[in-house]
Amino acid sequence: MALVPAKDTTNALPSPEGRAMGHLALHYGPAGDGPAAARLLTLLGLVETQMLPLPQGNFYRFVVNSGHFARGDGIVYLSALPEPQVRLIAAMHAALGIGTAQQDPAVGAYRAMLASDPEASFHFGFLVPSLEDLEDLVLTLHDLAENDPEFRGRITITANRARRGDAAVDARLDASPVFGDCTRFAYGRNGVQVFIETDLVKAGQLGECMHFELDYVFPGAGDHILSVVEL
Ligand SMILES: [Fe+2]
Repeated sequence: MALVPAKDTTNALPSPEGRAMGHLALHYGPAGDGPAAARLLTLLGLVETQMLPLPQGNFYRFVVNSGHFARGDGIVYLSALPEPQVRLIAAMHAALGIGTAQQDPAVGAYRAMLASDPEASFHFGFLVPSLEDLEDLVLTLHDLAENDPEFRGRITITANRARRGDAAVDARLDASPVFGDCTRFAYGRNGVQVFIETDLVKAGQLGECMHFELDYVFPGAGDHILSVVEL
């Protein structure tokens, strides 16, 4: 079942102190969404190392890069929502009147908060080592969100550019096909953020969608969006 050969078979931790980010367990909804959800994670840059076909839907293992094939960190699992969780989400939606005229106002407020700030609630971020790769990916995702049968209407993309202040960073982003006309700004400098909201993965307080974040940090700056939060 392994799709990617082990390029690095070491499973040692990089440091004897502290911890490493181990794994994240994600879930898609209907079994038929499994392949599209896995395809999205691959597009985001994760490396699929295993796929187990199961009656309730495929189980996948991904790693953040191929160096983590044999390691115990940097892992993302993806599987179908277990049936009790499907029932719980349905009960929550019914109790809150979601989609009805009696919908609890808290639902609209929560969704509005996320539309305005996609990282205001549960989300997971990945660091991308190349700004050019991130820009290419965003352009691809915009195209897929409009034209791809599996992704059309199921992906929403939002970008934040770095706060202004560094002439070289500002000039690079002004010339960017993704960030050049971006009017949203990150909570910091010297980095950019891209958010992908998708209902192909079920998470969040209402169990209806997941927010992924892809970040790039300009090299050489100790003070950047992921090191110092600015209000
Ligand atoms: Fe974030």
